Amino acid sequence: MLDRAFSARRTQPHSLFDVPTSSAVSDVSPDAESADLLADESKTKKPHLYVLASNYMSRLGLVKSPCLCLSLCLLLSVFMLFSLMLNSRSFVCLSSYDPISRASFFGLDGLNSDFGSLGVPWCRSKQGKTVEWTSKDLVKGLEEFVPIYETRPIKNNMHGMGFDHSFGLWFIAQWLKPDIMIESGAFKGHSTWVMRQAMPDTPIISLTPRHPEKYLKKGPAYVDENCTYFAGKDFVDFGSVDWERVLKKHGISDFSKVLVFFDDHQNELKRLKQALKAGFNHLIFEDNYDTGTGDHYSLRQICDQFYIRGGGHSCFKDSDEARIRSKRKKFWEKAVDIDELCGPHEAWWGVRGEMRDNFNHNNTLISYGEHFQNSRFVESILDVYWELPPAAGPSLTHQTRYDPARAPTPIVEDGRYRMFKRLGLDRLDRSVFNGYTQMVYLQISKPET
Ligand SMILES: C[S@@+](CC[C@H](N)C(=O)[O-])C[C@H]1O[C@@H](n2cnc3c(N)ncnc32)[C@H](O)[C@@H]1O
Repeated sequence: MLDRAFSARRTQPHSLFDVPTSSAVSDVSPDAESADLLADESKTKKPHLYVLASNYMSRLGLVKSPCLCLSLCLLLSVFMLFSLMLNSRSFVCLSSYDPISRASFFGLDGLNSDFGSLGVPWCRSKQGKTVEWTSKDLVKGLEEFVPIYETRPIKNNMHGMGFDHSFGLWFIAQWLKPDIMIESGAFKGHSTWVMRQAMPDTPIISLTPRHPEKYLKKGPAYVDENCTYFAGKDFVDFGSVDWERVLKKHGISDFSKVLVFFDDHQNELKRLKQALKAGFNHLIFEDNYDTGTGDHYSLRQICDQFYIRGGGHSCFKDSDEARIRSKRKKFWEKAVDIDELCGPHEAWWGVRGEMRDNFNHNNTLISYGEHFQNSRFVESILDVYWELPPAAGPSLTHQTRYDPARAPTPIVEDGRYRMFKRLGLDRLDRSVFNGYTQMVYLQISKPET
């Protein structure tokens, strides 16, 4: 039943029914007639190529010159062997993650039309409200942000945000114009720098166990002058802060003017409940990991449900999903196949049936019932759910990590190289496009009674 529910969102025909496989044919027990046919195989067996060739040539009158006939046969065989090698190259010599191989395997059109074939689950909001900005605004934003990004102090932000999410955070912050920004998880301070670019005079509060200034000793880091750090010995977890008191000190009483940014790899359901309790409305989660991936339970995982369009999974090894996943795994590092997706007892939700927390240090097995209830809870408090699209399609950025079949349509779609170039995206090192994990912006409010 699970597989049927999954297959309902597929458009591809079921290959087993369309084309009988050789094993399907050989499984049929031969009746008397087919036994006769098998016994008389020599009558129907195709003649060898050289027989056909010499027949053809004898018709042309070449049989009288056997040398010429033999050389022509040889030439024909060499030609056929060569063309066979050329045609089969894409099947045997594919280097996985190589974008050119990917494009030649799927074809550029195939690459495009294959996007979304696995479905992209989306959290439902209370009134179905969406964001104010349009794709035109995002394109305009990219044009403005690329030159800003090029001046970033931390050029190699491994383990931190890459280009896509830096753009997302900058775009949302400058659009919302909050009175104060809170960040949980700063690392070397790249995200603090991004928020500062969006809002030059707005105070920031940063919660992070290790102060970014500590990284300055080893290389580039960013410490902000107008930021209050709860770091080092002053570190307090977001859930333990008395926000009423802290924000009052900053002269803030209207919590709807606060933007909270989480990049701390904590269970997002836990963070959501803490943020709701404190009275915050605007949240961004940097790592909105897809089902089967990541080190914490995410919104994307929570809303990946059978009753959501594009959601739910099948652990059935012969399913369409298993087939598509194993194919895509060859091309995208972060794609997961059925074996990875499903834990014991076919538990596909979260990561192998676990609700993960705190960089994988605190993982809890949950039942599907709990997972389902978590989704219902999230829906009861969500006013807006908006996943940042990738900046550009993989044939432009050459990113090899995330599977585009599980991401929204990019801002600059594949094939639009002139636009990619005009926006200055071609100037960026391709490695900065490899960190996309469906960053999400949420508006939340207390559930309606
Ligand atoms: C992925 S890094 C953040 C990257 C950063 N936002 C950037 O853009 O470069 C995760 C950070 O979360 C911090 N962290 C760990 N536990 C935390 C917690 N409970 N609250 C806040 N930050 C935490 C880690 O020390 C680390 O600096």
